[in-house]
Formats: sequence, structure tokens, C-alpha cells
Amino acid sequence: MRKIEPLLSPSKFVGIDGVTHLCSGGESPWLKCQEEVYELFAHNKSLSYQGRDTLLGHVESCRQKMGQLWKVDAERVSFMASAAEGMNWLARGLDWRKGDNVVTTNLEFPSVAYAWQNLAERGVEIRSVPHRNWQVSETELLEAADERTRILAVSQVSFYSGQNLDIKALAAGLEGSETLLAVDATHASGAITVPAQVTDLCISSCYKWLLATHGTAPCYLSERAESVARTTTFGWRNLDAHGNGSAERKLSVAEHPMPVKLEAGNPAMATIMFLERSLDLLLEVGVERIEAHVRDLSELISTGLEQLGIQVISPRVRSGRSGNTCFLDTHAETTRKSLEAYGVLIWGELGRVRISGHLYNSSGDVERLLDSLNTVLRANSTQGD
Ligand SMILES: Cc1ncc(COP(=O)(O)O)c(C=O)c1O
Repeated sequence: MRKIEPLLSPSKFVGIDGVTHLCSGGESPWLKCQEEVYELFAHNKSLSYQGRDTLLGHVESCRQKMGQLWKVDAERVSFMASAAEGMNWLARGLDWRKGDNVVTTNLEFPSVAYAWQNLAERGVEIRSVPHRNWQVSETELLEAADERTRILAVSQVSFYSGQNLDIKALAAGLEGSETLLAVDATHASGAITVPAQVTDLCISSCYKWLLATHGTAPCYLSERAESVARTTTFGWRNLDAHGNGSAERKLSVAEHPMPVKLEAGNPAMATIMFLERSLDLLLEVGVERIEAHVRDLSELISTGLEQLGIQVISPRVRSGRSGNTCFLDTHAETTRKSLEAYGVLIWGELGRVRISGHLYNSSGDVERLLDSLNTVLRANSTQGD
């Protein structure tokens, strides 16, 4: 097997010594350096005004780093509470008319597939393009769109198959139309290049490939999306609430534009500070190097799986690959638990197993996975005899 060294030593993470951790697509391991971030947060949390200013300074610094990762103007990135919030914000904010439609796929993550469910009663059609043998076609997505398509909503990388959709091709296909391109980049951000600049909304959770944790989801919003979507959640932070230095309320109040447009109240400062720290590491290594590394690992994993007689559902073409390499398994939970007994952590549910290789993984991890899987499969087939 081709030798692949980690880009970041696994010793930088808490609790994965002697463990083969191949499940960043579910929950990534925790960076040891975050302990200092927690101390910094704790110190400033006790410091009244001055401490709050320092914490908010970290929020702004994290915004800059997110802009750097996604190669967009940081002033167009807000921090929402979860990835689910992004699609729902668009669902609530557009001036929907009877006969409008949303194009998505029938293999989408729930928040991308179902954010639109209150719209049916307003006469909005949800067009769910079927996958073919677990792959979704960009051409078929574009063919499903017409002049009444308000939103084309997809995940860049599929949580189920690991397919990396060609977001630039989708954006090019929609050029000249009024359709907004909304992308959930949860399984891409931190592992694969995210072309956020060609989207209208791009959101990501942070507890997977971005190596941070729950409670915040950076969201890029294009000028075009900002101009057509109304804000539907208001609070002290996204309104000019205290503009005249008075606590007395008026009948109308001006709204703030991006980046705080999507931040009605305080952003999750502690979580955002963790994200800032993990972005330092990811940006230092470089997303292009990480992308090449996770695709190299994916190639090793799928070749190894095929040699064990397992049919992989992730794309073979390199540009379609991501950090996730997946195969169907009706006993996915059992396989996951059996591998855990060998110290190999993967994700298994919903009839498929997902193996995620990130920057701390090596070809040694792939060898251990394949050896253990081989043993587990043999044991299963003997039991079946
Ligand atoms: C594509 C995708 N989006 C979003 C999420 C969950 O993110 P959140 O809990 O922030 O909504 C997941 C979790 O697996 C996911 O796979």
C-alpha cells in the first residue's frame, strides 16, 4: 500500500492514542490546544465590559479567518447557531408565490431536504431529484430547475455517499436566472475547497471537518440573496436598537446589514473562539494540501474495500471524491460496533458505513481499518454458515 503520512500529528488531539479515528465526518477529535482557548475564554468571561470586548474581538478575528478559508469577504459571513438555520432562514425570508419551486435531491441531509416543508401550503413545489445508484447528477439538478425555481439547495459533499458535487458547474448553469444557489458545506469545509463565492448562501457546521464544536455555523450570504430575503429573526444585535442611546422603544427601527444581519443576539463566543483556533491550524496546513491528502486516503480506502469484495458507493473520479468513503451495509451499526472492539472508529447508520480520512490520518490507519474489517466480515460470514 502507498505510504501516506499525516499532515498533522494525531498526538495533537485528545484521547486518540492507540485509536484508529476515521470518523471526522461524524465528530472530529478534540484538539489539545483548545485547552488554552478555554482558559482564555474563562479569564475574559469574568472581566465585565473589557472581557466582553476581547471575546467579541475573537469573533471578528474568526470571521476574517472563515472569509480566508472560503475566499470570500469576511463582512459577508455571519455566525448562525447550526447549519440547519441557514436553509431555514431562506425558507422563511423569501416572498414565496404560488407556483414557485425548490430543487433539491432525495438523498439530502434532512435540513436541506425539509427546510421547505411549510411552503407546500403556500403552493410551493419541492422537486426532489432522485439519486441514481447513490450519485446525484448536476445536469439533472439543473434540468429540474426552471424560471419559477427560487432555490436550488444541495450539500456540497453528501453525508451519505461522500459525493463532492461540482458547485461551480451548478452556479454556471444557473447564471442569468434568479434562482438562488444554497449550499450546505458541512462535509466539505476544512477538507475540500468550498467555492462559497459562487453561491448565494453557504453554511457549515463546525464539529466535523472544521475540528471545532457545536453551537455555531458560519454562513456566507451573497449581496443578491441579502437583497431578496427578509430578515425574520430580530434582536438587539441585528437592529439599530440603541442607536439614539435610549432604552425607549420606537415603532420602527433600522436593520443592520451583513455581517450581523443573521446574528439577532450574541454569537456563541466560546465556540467561535474554538473555531478560530482550529482555523489557524487548517489555514496553516492549507486547504489545497488537505484536499489532496483526504482524496489520496479516499483512493486507498476504496481500493482496499474493493479488494475485500465490498462495493463502494462514493465516486471513483477524483474530483467527485471527498474525505468520506462509503459503502452500503444493512448491518451498519453492528459493523461499527464490531470495529470499535478493535479500536477502529467509523460511522455506521442508515444502511451505510462511512469512513472519513482527515489530515491527522495516515495509510497506517487505512491498513488497520482494512485488517479489522476483514476479520469482522469473516466472522460474520462464518456465523451466517
Ligand atoms: C450535510 C449536513 N449538514 C448539517 C449537519 C448537522 O449540522 P447542524 O447540527 O449544525 O445543523 C450534518 C450532520 O451530520 C450534515 O451532514
